Formats: sequence, structure tokens, C-alpha cells
Amino acid sequence: MRKTVITAAMSAVLVAGVVWAQDHEEFEKWMKETNAGFASLRKSVAAKDGPQTAASADKLARLFDDVKGHFEEHKMADGVKIAETAHNAAKDLAAAAHAGEWDKASADLKTIGGACQGCHAAHREKLPDGSFKMK
Ligand code: HEC
Repeated sequence: MRKTVITAAMSAVLVAGVVWAQDHEEFEKWMKETNAGFASLRKSVAAKDGPQTAASADKLARLFDDVKGHFEEHKMADGVKIAETAHNAAKDLAAAAHAGEWDKASADLKTIGGACQGCHAAHREKLPDGSFKMK
């Protein structure tokens, strides 16, 4: 009986661990794509490249939507709000790029950069091996 209980408890921990790992892997993938998207956005805004900027900004907006969903699942309201701010700024940036309003595009880019930093300060923890986890 005792053994069954222990085995059951151990499998529960194992299942929770696997779910966490998958969840984390997916989030990490989004962050890597977000990072690449943001780098290319900075370049295309500097070069005033409308089509490229709009495409990168749209992609970032979609990623921030996924990120927002993740924070909703974890019931972290401040993270949801930051993701939403970043999403809206990415949408505005795409519109500004289409319209050729580069001052506005630069301001939106700053808002997105602030969202990266704000969310990382609140919810990203650096592990001793140099990788990151959500907190
Ligand atoms: C709403 C919250 C939120 C926003 C907005 C956000 N991040 Fe993150 N980011 C996280 C969290 C949480 C982690 C740590 C979890 C992880 O890496 O699995 C992370 C991790 C990362 C990592 C490390 C990924 C790795 O290799 O593990 C990079 C790079 C990154 N973010 C870049 C960015 C950039 C660039 C932006 C803005 C354009 C951004 N993030 C916006 C929450 C956010």
C-alpha cells in the first residue's frame, strides 16, 4: 500500500515535470523568435524599410499574443498586461511602417523594448548555468 502511494506520488511529480518542460520549451522558442524578430526590427526601422518593418512587427505582434496567453494560463496579470502593451505597440509599429511615419515607428520600437525589459525584470530569472526560467 505504502509503496503504491509512493509510486503514485513519484509519477505525479514526473508528469508535472514533463508538462513543465514542454511548456517551458515552447516559451523559450517564442522568446528566441521574439529576440530575432526584435533585432531585425531595429535594423529595418533604422533603414526605414517599410515592408520589412511591417512584416517583422506583425510577426512580433503574433508572438506577443502567444506570450500573453502563456501568462494568462499562469494567472500572472502583470505579465499579461506587459505582453498586451508589447502586442499593441507592435501593431502600431506595423501601421506606422505602412504609412512611412518613422518618428512614430521609433517611439513604438522603444515601447516594445521597454516591455522586454519590464517583463524580464519581473518574470525572468537567470539560472547558474546561464539559462533562464520564468518566475
Ligand atoms: C510578458 C513577458 C515578456 C516579454 C514582453 C518579453 N519576454 Fe523575453 N522572456 C520572458 C521570460 C519569462 C523569459 C524566461 C523564460 C524562458 O526563457 O523560458 C524570457 C526569456 C527571454 C530570452 C532568453 C531565451 C532563452 O534562451 O532561454 C530572450 C533572448 C528574450 N526573452 C528576449 C526578449 C525580447 C527581445 C523581448 C522584447 C522584444 C522579450 N523577450 C519580451 C518574458 C518576456
